[in-house]
Amino acid sequence: MVAENKFDADIARDFHHVWHPCTQHKDYETASPILVERAEGIYFYDRQGKSYLDAIASWWVNLFGHNHPRLNAALTRQLENMAHVMFAGVTHQPAIDLADSLTALSPPELEKVFFSDNGSTAVEVALKMSLQYWQEKGETRKTRFVYLNGGYHGETLGALSVCGLEIFRGKFEQVLARHLPVEGPDCFRCPYGLRRESCDAECFEPMEKTLRENHDTIAGVIVEPLVQGAAGMTMYPPVYLKKLQAACEPLAIHIIFDEVAVAFGRTGSLFVCAAHGLRPTFLCLSKGITSGYLPLSATLTTDEIYSAFYGAPRKLFIHSHSYSANPLACAVANETLRMLTENNFLESLQPKIAALRECGKQFDGIAGEFRQTGMIAALELVEKKRERFPSEKRIGYQIFLEGLKRGLFLRPLGDVVYFMPPLVITEEEIAVMMNTAHDCINTVLQRG
Ligand SMILES: Cc1ncc(COP(=O)(O)O)c(C=O)c1O
Repeated sequence: MVAENKFDADIARDFHHVWHPCTQHKDYETASPILVERAEGIYFYDRQGKSYLDAIASWWVNLFGHNHPRLNAALTRQLENMAHVMFAGVTHQPAIDLADSLTALSPPELEKVFFSDNGSTAVEVALKMSLQYWQEKGETRKTRFVYLNGGYHGETLGALSVCGLEIFRGKFEQVLARHLPVEGPDCFRCPYGLRRESCDAECFEPMEKTLRENHDTIAGVIVEPLVQGAAGMTMYPPVYLKKLQAACEPLAIHIIFDEVAVAFGRTGSLFVCAAHGLRPTFLCLSKGITSGYLPLSATLTTDEIYSAFYGAPRKLFIHSHSYSANPLACAVANETLRMLTENNFLESLQPKIAALRECGKQFDGIAGEFRQTGMIAALELVEKKRERFPSEKRIGYQIFLEGLKRGLFLRPLGDVVYFMPPLVITEEEIAVMMNTAHDCINTVLQRG
């Protein structure tokens, strides 16, 4: 009874003072919020002790499960030495080690690492570096970025200006810098009637045209390689990226790979660019970099970019964050990278990737499409064929609520139910996760 009262009192204080991210508070208050008390492995637990399977890895960050002994130890070891120190004109071992590892594991052209503290700032840094590079080179007309419809790169104003999703940018349109949107791949509703497994990215044509016609004013192109996360885990083939590289390089256009969501094993490899032999000018990393422990991000780039900023005092890159390269975060990131690269960890994902695919078969006939790239799977629910449900039906939201009842934490993107669990999930747990989701979806769809 005491616990119950404390719960009510704490929730009342939450309602009174806390404003949650991307949350309609009226929904939140009516859906009996979860007060998370602790987390372990792929589960988190509320104050009443109920467990929730974290099917989306706490917003795509958690790789090795919650409360991992090795990550905890790396963090506490570092804590005994130093929690934080500023990073301008000062350096420290965890950051040096991390920069060393990231450059060793990513494509060889990426030699320099600029640290910041979240995915949006990793993108801001890439955009600003690209712009300043062209200014330093006297190419003052190169000030625009090309981005894909459906693309998402964070919600700060710079990142939002290259976001191709109306839901995020609509309310802020008036103050966003004018860049160049391009119709991107839409494999489920392919206008060419092709299949992503066998096409030659015929949909690259509008991109090719935009680059060719505007290259003298284009600084760079930004993409989420292979998976457009916030768009609803839409997935497209690597041939699109190969065409992008082939088009950009001769036109002197920077390529920004935003791998904030897809790096560190999510697609089955450490980095999409390295796995497909691609050479982006900038690589943005965050989320899984600390396996969900602490905020950290990195923007990797080439010596060519770096050298344009080197020399005269006025050429410096004027950009910083108070917590850039926080030593605790770097220490956990170093341990995360060790765990990702030892004991054939990435190879050990293959049976899990197969299990996701196998379990996905149960959605044949229920979902418009089941799609998968490595350890990311998604079901796009449709009213009929490829037609979306009317948004007022809130199908995805109802499935979220059904999941909570059954101890499954999903967070559908519109009517796309997706799975991006911690990589340490077992094959048995994958089956539980997807069978439970199947149950939730059936309940909601039968209700109509
Ligand atoms: C591809 C991509 N870029 C950037 C971001 C922004 O990251 P953050 O939420 O850490 O600012 C996200 C977040 O979901 C993302 O998916």
